[in-house]
Amino acid sequence: MKAIVIYSSQTNNTKKVAEAVATELNCAMKPVNDVGDIADYDTVAVGFWLKAGAPDPSTQDLLPKLSGKKVFLFATHGAAVGTPPADNAMAKAKELAKGAEIIDTFSCPGEVAEKVMEMISKKDQKPPWFGAAHAAKGHPDVDDIAAVKAAVKKML
Ligand SMILES: Cc1cc2nc3c(=O)[nH]c(=O)nc-3n(C[C@H](O)[C@H](O)[C@H](O)COP(=O)(O)O)c2cc1C
Repeated sequence: MKAIVIYSSQTNNTKKVAEAVATELNCAMKPVNDVGDIADYDTVAVGFWLKAGAPDPSTQDLLPKLSGKKVFLFATHGAAVGTPPADNAMAKAKELAKGAEIIDTFSCPGEVAEKVMEMISKKDQKPPWFGAAHAAKGHPDVDDIAAVKAAVKKML
């Protein structure tokens, strides 16, 4: 298996999870805007953050290009794990990567930047994930990192 971790992260939440995945896979990691040629890799772990109910735009561009590869999808989000705002976005990621073999998925909360929290709290219409966003503070935490490492071990 030749693996690589590709991640998208604005405020480092997803990067922290990506580092744990890369450690477990014992492989390199690259930011999504500097992927280069991935033809040689048969396994790609893709980490992304959620924006407007979907994978972030850079990851949306990447996922359709992974046809024929084994793909592990992981995400961080303000939404609570296992709720529709988180699960629907992961479903969108799977759909975008439909030419690939999805080997597993993982997601955990990721602290939402204070400025973003303030901005949204002033809006009349708040997005469905916002109710859970305060609880994402401090995530990903040690338990999230342990959980993703366990998920990768199981996958291997
Ligand atoms: C502009 C913006 C839009 C966001 N939209 C969503 C969303 O639709 N659903 C969600 O669960 N979290 C949303 N979030 C929260 C981020 O996905 C979350 O904080 C994530 O952990 C950030 O990851 P990063 O630190 O790797 O950039 C949004 C954050 C920002 C800044």
